Amino acid sequence: MTASLEHELSLDALWMPFTANRTFKQHPRMLVSARDMHYVASDGRQILDAAAGLWCVNAGHCREPIVRAVQEAASTLDFAPAFQMGHPSSFELASALAKVTPPGLDRIFFSNSGSEAVDTALKIVLAYWRARGQPERSHFVGRLRGYHGVGFGGISVGGIAPNRDSYAAQLLPHVHHLPDTHDLTRNAFSCGQPQHGAERADALLDLIAQVGADRIGAVIVEPVAASTGVLVPPVGYLERLRSICSAHDILLIFDEVITGFGRLGAAFAAQRFGVIPDIITMAKGLTNGLIPMGATAVRREIHDTVVESAGMGIELFHGYTYSGHPVASAAGLATLKLYRDEGLFERAHHLSAFWAESVHSLATEPHVIDVRTLGLVGAIELAGRGSEIGARGADVMQASFWRENTLIRVTRDTIALSPPLIVSEAQIESIVDAMRRVLRTLA
Ligand SMILES: Cc1ncc(COP(=O)(O)O)c(C=O)c1O
Repeated sequence: MTASLEHELSLDALWMPFTANRTFKQHPRMLVSARDMHYVASDGRQILDAAAGLWCVNAGHCREPIVRAVQEAASTLDFAPAFQMGHPSSFELASALAKVTPPGLDRIFFSNSGSEAVDTALKIVLAYWRARGQPERSHFVGRLRGYHGVGFGGISVGGIAPNRDSYAAQLLPHVHHLPDTHDLTRNAFSCGQPQHGAERADALLDLIAQVGADRIGAVIVEPVAASTGVLVPPVGYLERLRSICSAHDILLIFDEVITGFGRLGAAFAAQRFGVIPDIITMAKGLTNGLIPMGATAVRREIHDTVVESAGMGIELFHGYTYSGHPVASAAGLATLKLYRDEGLFERAHHLSAFWAESVHSLATEPHVIDVRTLGLVGAIELAGRGSEIGARGADVMQASFWRENTLIRVTRDTIALSPPLIVSEAQIESIVDAMRRVLRTLA
């Protein structure tokens, strides 16, 4: 940090999320501005963004059309009540979103984050089965290593041990987990979808046998489990989950908070894989990270069943003060237009072969035990340093930021790369070269 900023700022009052607060505050990594593919750090260095911020800035930073739309919206309609009142831009955004979601998933509920989008989805599932006269379908199935945000619903269906274990005393009841799809023995260094592991979806059949299909409301998975270290689904796995769910009348939720909005070279992973769920949760890229917003897209029949079961009163007792906030809606509309005008989803698709080849060139570097890529996502998994899980990953994060001026994400000992979709081939080479130098000097 620059000396002046260090003197101006007290770091004490802020309790930082998902951060080792004491360690961070000894050596703060501080970002002060951003444009396109770069951040500027507090010491003036340009930092190449290989993480799209936190998987969200898909069109690059401080993009003028989105900034302008937000400024205009903020000075025109700062706030409108979300309950019992409407304002045009939330309706416009819902219609625009319904054009990019897979056909049929065209009813949209707004929230403010991925966590809220997930909790909204889980509530809609319960409301749907009540409306269909089957309230006993209240069990949820998640997956080990899944991340679905930090609400009590999300951590219950999620499968990240520390996020659950800290609150284990009060998780949702009636939640079951499928095994994760990671299989280093058979699939290491797969380019794109790995070949082995579709049969892991059959664990759902075992759960159905134990619990009873008529008690399971929904299965929720990330199509690519991103936060846990980018686990790409094996060929045929999602198809199998879909067909088991369909055969047993169980709803399938894709949590696309990360995979949505072009990350895999299509609007949503559902289209990329050709597997259409019943509900999609999204956030992050919805507003290009500029302002918080989440959304839950549901199949029309799910919406209609809930809405038509309720007479003319309130149909779903759920919502947020800021659902469909006017400024966030304006940001969402401008973001979708920018994605379309610049063809960014197609761009990600076209770049993905170059991306895969570049990231896979790290396969022979020290400590690397796996490389995974799909769309514009990449993961480099490193062997742990003895029993110190995550130590090597933490060193990579530090070296990348301080020495290589590159922002990456690290989960334990896996490096995750997900640059904005405007990244150039030269910038991809810079990111990969930076990782190569870091790996070669890593203890
Ligand atoms: C798949 C998935 N779901 C939900 C969330 C939670 O989103 P938020 O942090 O906006 O609450 C995330 C965040 O990374 C995510 O990756």
